[in-house]
Amino acid sequence: MSLASLYIKNVRNLAETHIEPAPCLNIIHGANASGKTSLLEAIYLLGRARSFRSSHVQNVISKGTDGFTIAGQVNIGVDQRIPLGIEYAPEKMRMRAAGQTLERTSDLVSHLPLLLINPDSHKILTLGPRQRRRFMDWGVFHVEHAFMPLWARYCRALKQRNASLRCSGRSMPEDVWSIELQESASRIDLLRRNYLRDYASLFAGFAEKLLPIEGLSLRYLRGWAQDAEYHEVLARSLEKDRSLGYTSRGPHRADVMIEIGGKPAQEYTSGGQQKLLICAMYLAQAALLKSRVQRQCIILVDDLPAELDIEHRKKLMALLCGLDAQIMVTTTDKELIAAPEIIGRKMFHVKHGVVTEQAF
Ligand SMILES: Nc1ncnc2c1ncn2[C@@H]1O[C@H](COP(=O)(O)OP(=O)(O)O)[C@@H](O)[C@H]1O
Ligand SMILES: [Mg+2]
Repeated sequence: MSLASLYIKNVRNLAETHIEPAPCLNIIHGANASGKTSLLEAIYLLGRARSFRSSHVQNVISKGTDGFTIAGQVNIGVDQRIPLGIEYAPEKMRMRAAGQTLERTSDLVSHLPLLLINPDSHKILTLGPRQRRRFMDWGVFHVEHAFMPLWARYCRALKQRNASLRCSGRSMPEDVWSIELQESASRIDLLRRNYLRDYASLFAGFAEKLLPIEGLSLRYLRGWAQDAEYHEVLARSLEKDRSLGYTSRGPHRADVMIEIGGKPAQEYTSGGQQKLLICAMYLAQAALLKSRVQRQCIILVDDLPAELDIEHRKKLMALLCGLDAQIMVTTTDKELIAAPEIIGRKMFHVKHGVVTEQAF
């Protein structure tokens, strides 16, 4: 998948924009506060129906206007395109794909596999498991169609169990949700493990090319003891869960950790090395999607040069461009990007919110 065209109206400081990105490499350059991140944010919104820098999507609306529109044509095969669009007016988000109104965000997400690497990405290593779980599940979601319905089923049962746990004064003679939870939990675990088996070797390969580190490994924690069935764990933790008021174990607590010599990688790496590790994580996801389901990703890299020396910028650009993905890279200075000479690559300049295509 790649974006053949992009239309943006009323997003942050951006003027009404219509561009036709290259299916391969796109360099977006411009001074600070020109609107580069806003451009990537608009693309991200089109694929994920949320922003990566505001938890309140209304902040994205250009000041003085009352709603934004982002639309695009997505290449889905040889000479095949579908229109995709998202509109937001306060309190109301409307999503459309191929002429149909979409009810669920997951329907939008499946149309545009988007990955984002930005200066905040190191948080995936340093913050809690939630971000890493999201990262892993994005990949599982795109390669395993069974995942989303299973996850929805698990979350429904989990919500009901949690509600029962909180029913004060009423005893729950048996854990009525455990059978339902057991079945979906073990299947979710299996899908994640299958995904990570292929993922781990791709990740190791990219990491090796970007920053050879001794003893780098990936560790999956499924959210409950490896040697126990989930329903046994639920039974054993019933009293504790009652006092907590929620379910303390399960796939909703899973984690995937990057370690060096068995210790968290972030404790033994510099800012630059963390950025490279994260790039290896995303490169591996894009490569896996391509090999498992023949889907191209769109990779947004905001401020690529930050924290990287010229040698690593070159290596990273070469790996990104070798992926068969659509790449959108922003930078304040185009000279800092070692852009490989790919046929069809494009460059865009952003100035005071106006995006213009330029010759290389
Ligand atoms: N809702 C908004 N409406 C109008 N302008 C905004 C809004 N939110 C942020 N801005 C402005 O948009 C400008 C561009 O921001 P950004 O895209 O982060 O620039 P860059 O990534 O090029 O440094 C900033 O000057 C910021 O103050
Ligand atoms: Mg920026």
